Amino acid sequence: MKTAVFSTQPYDRSFFEAENLHFGHELTFFESRMKSQPEGIALAEGYPAICVFVNDKVTDFHLRHLAPAGLKLIALRCAGFNNVDLKTAQELGIRVVRVPAYSPHAVAEHALALIMTLNRKTHKAYNRVREGNFSLVRMEGFDVFGKTVGVIGTGKIGQAFCQIMLGMGCSVLAYDTYPSEEMTAKGVVYVSKEELFSRSDIVSLHCPLTPETHHIMNKSSLALMKPGAMLINTSRGGLVDTQAVIETLKHGHLGYLGLDVYEQEEKLFFRDLSETVIEDDTIARLMSFPNVIVTAHQAFFTRNALTQIAHTTLQNMADFEAGKALVNEVKWENVKG
Ligand code: NAI
Repeated sequence: MKTAVFSTQPYDRSFFEAENLHFGHELTFFESRMKSQPEGIALAEGYPAICVFVNDKVTDFHLRHLAPAGLKLIALRCAGFNNVDLKTAQELGIRVVRVPAYSPHAVAEHALALIMTLNRKTHKAYNRVREGNFSLVRMEGFDVFGKTVGVIGTGKIGQAFCQIMLGMGCSVLAYDTYPSEEMTAKGVVYVSKEELFSRSDIVSLHCPLTPETHHIMNKSSLALMKPGAMLINTSRGGLVDTQAVIETLKHGHLGYLGLDVYEQEEKLFFRDLSETVIEDDTIARLMSFPNVIVTAHQAFFTRNALTQIAHTTLQNMADFEAGKALVNEVKWENVKG
């Protein structure tokens, strides 16, 4: 299928080209993001399919221009779909597919990496030892064993994360609109959001970004958290009210913050800005805290996940082209709530 692939990084291209040997789609790779500007539309014109990633924006504006130009399919090469106007897509008869699962373990394991780095300060130890500083002063952490971990959203990633934390000897509390019987059987205890915030030593977010979950971590929910607790967000930036979290860190109430996603990340992430003046004062403030770690949306980034992403995306496109049922379709009526 003739497809315009947006936001292409070198690794996207190599994994897609290798996997496409089994499919034979006609792929055109663009480095640019699909954003709210005419250039994104100009590049996509004439393609029956576009392939987009987390920070591409496919708005009502794009869809109304691209539908008459022949757009029929939006292939998201990610699990989240908050960046596509599904309502307009459905109205215009444009189908939307995604990659619902590509190694949930990759993201769950990265959440653990953030927890352990914040806790045991391995990033600081690396630099200290290289500089000949073998002191342990200010390096103490805590045993994760026996701690209470709160998990918001126990879908594929949340479940993988629950299992890791159970394996480390933690008590796991969870909140989900659809609790999982399988998780309950394994020892996860479902409670209200409020109870989860007030009892957990570590809170990890694994729900999608929807109008309901937008700023689920806000001034009042952050205030409910235990003093000194840890918050981890590997899901979507918009789940956390960044200004509120900065205030909570400044007052010392929140003990640790680990972010793989950030509300304004589309202006920063997936690019090398090391020689550029960062104009975003909010991320600069976040990075100034000694108890905050930010990674640039890399939780998914394992070889296993990249292979799976390429395979499922190309399979979704092949199924559409062949008129088969789209098992990974995202439909407005199913997600509007
Ligand atoms: P999933 O669809 O399997 O699970 C999401 C869970 O959240 C479901 O159990 C659902 O019932 C629950 N949920 C929905 N609304 C809720 C609400 N209002 N309150 C509580 N729970 C709610 O999704 P999966 O695969 O586990 O992914 C979760 C999120 O992780 C994705 O939406 C995406 O935003 C993020 N993600 C981040 C990646 C990264 O590299 N940082 C990579 C892949 C996904």
